[in-house]
Amino acid sequence: MNILITGGCGYKGSVLVPKLLARGYRVNVVDIMWFDNFLEPHKHLNVIQADVRNIDSIPLEGIETIIHLASVANDPCGDLNPKLTWEISGLATMQLADKAVRNNVKQFIYASSGSVYGVKEEDQVTEDLELKPISEYNKTKMVAERVLLSYSDQMAVQIIRPATVCGYSPRMRLDVSVNMLTMQALVNGLITVFGGNQTRPNIHIDDITDIYLHLIDHKDSMSGIYNAGFENISIMDIAQMVTRHVPCEISVTESNDPRSYRVNSDRLLATGYKPKKSVEDAIKEICERHKQGTLKDEDRFHNLKWMQSTVFK
Ligand SMILES: NC(=O)c1ccc[n+]([C@@H]2O[C@H](COP(=O)([O-])OP(=O)(O)OC[C@H]3O[C@@H](n4cnc5c(N)ncnc54)[C@H](O)[C@@H]3O)[C@@H](O)[C@H]2O)c1
Repeated sequence: MNILITGGCGYKGSVLVPKLLARGYRVNVVDIMWFDNFLEPHKHLNVIQADVRNIDSIPLEGIETIIHLASVANDPCGDLNPKLTWEISGLATMQLADKAVRNNVKQFIYASSGSVYGVKEEDQVTEDLELKPISEYNKTKMVAERVLLSYSDQMAVQIIRPATVCGYSPRMRLDVSVNMLTMQALVNGLITVFGGNQTRPNIHIDDITDIYLHLIDHKDSMSGIYNAGFENISIMDIAQMVTRHVPCEISVTESNDPRSYRVNSDRLLATGYKPKKSVEDAIKEICERHKQGTLKDEDRFHNLKWMQSTVFK
């Protein structure tokens, strides 16, 4: 099988690509490499450094499946240059889908985000609830989803709305909650929690990457939109969990991010997917990597700080 992954050098891509190669697939990665490239060379791996906005740089001949991960991947980075955010998540996604159907691509898997829901009072956030995205990042994801669904009669369109991902990747992200709090504890012996009561869903990186494999395996039986988040817990719950593995203090300050929601992933679970890992596993794995010296607190692992000092310097 021939697969194209955009954003394949990112946090998720760096865990997903080796899993695809282990299945014997031929994998083509297109990535602008804002955060470098941590993928090990492999005879079935072709890595192209390119911008998805340059549609001509994306080779689709012979590709059966696209996994579209490339985006300005969080709220504060999306706000740095909203035009860029819309061009990458909106325009480029539509151009990629358009080129995909022209090249007879059979399956298009899209990484949307659980943040498209905005602030929800409902006890259970299911896929059919009204979307009220708050940031530019969330809005581009909402619009991209709808654009992609319009191609559903020409290829299998599968959209995942992942919770916040946690756990170790060779291209680490230390700006996502579990990873950030664990690294703060390891480096400073102090965790700073903004607010603390906001409830957010989480998903381990091994599960979100396995879900992409599950989608590949269920091209004909799974289509449309799926939530993917299994542990709805508060930031304070996460901080307290970290203290069980790293001795540290917790300091609470005011939050400017009101988003609080619990996602319901029953639709995904009904397709036979079973999560294998937990937030606690992610914390333990990060601690272990740090102890071994294979994970350090590097600037390029913090998307906002890194983009401000490189892409927008
Ligand atoms: N990590 C999470 O918690 C999370 C949660 C929900 C959704 N998502 C989504 O999953 C996807 C992957 O997220 P991630 O955590 O791996 O983020 P990431 O920032 O680590 O990876 C994104 C990758 O996309 C690349 N990229 C950005 N703009 C590009 C462009 N114009 N052309 C080519 N490549 C480009 C970057 O270089 C980077 O390697 C994103 O779309 C993100 O919005 C992530």
